[in-house]
Amino acid sequence: MRISVIGCGYLGAVHAAAMAELGHQVVGVDVDERKIAALAAGHPPFFEPGLPEILTSATATGRLRFSTDIADAAGSEVHFLAVGTPQAAGTNAADLRYVDAAFDGLLPHLADGALVVGKSTVPVGTAARLGARLADAAPQASLAWNPEFLREGFAVKDTLEPDRLVYGVGDEHAASVLDHVYRAAIEAGTPRIVTDYATAELVKVAANAFLATKISFINAMSEVADATGADVTALADAIGHDARIGRRFLNAGVGFGGGCLPKDIRAFTARAEELGRGDSLAFLKEVDAINLRQRQRVVDLAVEALGGSVFRKRIAVLGVTFKPDSDDVRDSPALDVAVQLTGLGADVVATDPEGIENARARHPQLDYTTSTREALSGADLVVLVTEWREYRALDPVETGRLVAGRRIIDGRNVLDLGAWRAAGWQVRGLGRP
Ligand code: UGA
Repeated sequence: MRISVIGCGYLGAVHAAAMAELGHQVVGVDVDERKIAALAAGHPPFFEPGLPEILTSATATGRLRFSTDIADAAGSEVHFLAVGTPQAAGTNAADLRYVDAAFDGLLPHLADGALVVGKSTVPVGTAARLGARLADAAPQASLAWNPEFLREGFAVKDTLEPDRLVYGVGDEHAASVLDHVYRAAIEAGTPRIVTDYATAELVKVAANAFLATKISFINAMSEVADATGADVTALADAIGHDARIGRRFLNAGVGFGGGCLPKDIRAFTARAEELGRGDSLAFLKEVDAINLRQRQRVVDLAVEALGGSVFRKRIAVLGVTFKPDSDDVRDSPALDVAVQLTGLGADVVATDPEGIENARARHPQLDYTTSTREALSGADLVVLVTEWREYRALDPVETGRLVAGRRIIDGRNVLDLGAWRAAGWQVRGLGRP
């Protein structure tokens, strides 16, 4: 099929390349010239494992091209809207200006029978509003909402082999067009749910709200564990064996961040309030508060580990991204901890395999190094806040030779505390005795 993807960020760039990989003829459109030039040259402007490979192979087939001109989307049968919906300044609500601008930009270019497919995460009611506009301004086209569930770090796999497909549609024709687009996944037996706009929009935010709640639940347990001497990791293993609960997303630590979970639960709460159902989602404010408390807990542990003050103490912060296998530092708990410790007068040296450039753009006042050894050298305290493989694999004996003081805070509960203690380290985790 002929497909356009409007918005070439983490979501859109992967979607465009994956659709071309599946055999479609794709044009990716974005207003950011730098981004488009990089993608056209096969170099994604962000780190996503597997993306450079499919970008290169799809571009070589001639099925994938990029443009800054929305007019190049004309002639496509399907137009995916994949622009961002960040948190609006000064409120919890989502900022829909990019969705509206992309939609408006597309209107004059919609061919007869074209299908506009929203992928962006939006407040429930957005699709109905856009659908009504379409019926008015371009009745030859129709609208579907097809939320995306990809995880950064696994985006290529999640797009090519999704665990479910959700179509919010106004008519059966839209569903059959999407079936064509996703034929490979459907033939592979991927479950497909065809529903209305509102349900499709809600599925997306409900899924992220559930995941955020699961993480904050285990972090709340870790707070109680700290007060009682219990071990939250063993607790998570034990309750996780119950298939109704499941072990995944039960890792206590410095909490969730990124461009999705934090802003999505806030926007969901704001939308529920607009709908007069604020009480129904009031618990998500607690989920957010528990999550933000974890960052403070790590900072407090650092102060405690250094005898009451971090002032002029050298602290190695391992990780700045919101999770491993990503260069994304949006709302990153790790970067937040580094900034807070710096604010308290510590000499912080932050390191990360992929995230330094993005972190420096936001917080140029911090000291960064790409070398883990350099970050560790002479440190009075080590704070592990993103569980990159390299940090999980650190050897306590060897690391002990580099630092000035054998103190470590495991902000992701990934280290073997016994092995580190045996090597003479003072170790603290979150909710671990
Ligand atoms: C999340 C969802 O998992 C995706 O399904 C969704 O499509 C995406 O948001 C989106 O809305 O676009 P992502 O933001 O890539 O994906 O990251 P996650 O893997 O969900 O991790 C989010 C945060 O939770 C990270 O900071 C991670 O460190 C943290 N986390 C995760 C924990 O603290 N504990 C856990 O047990 C799991």
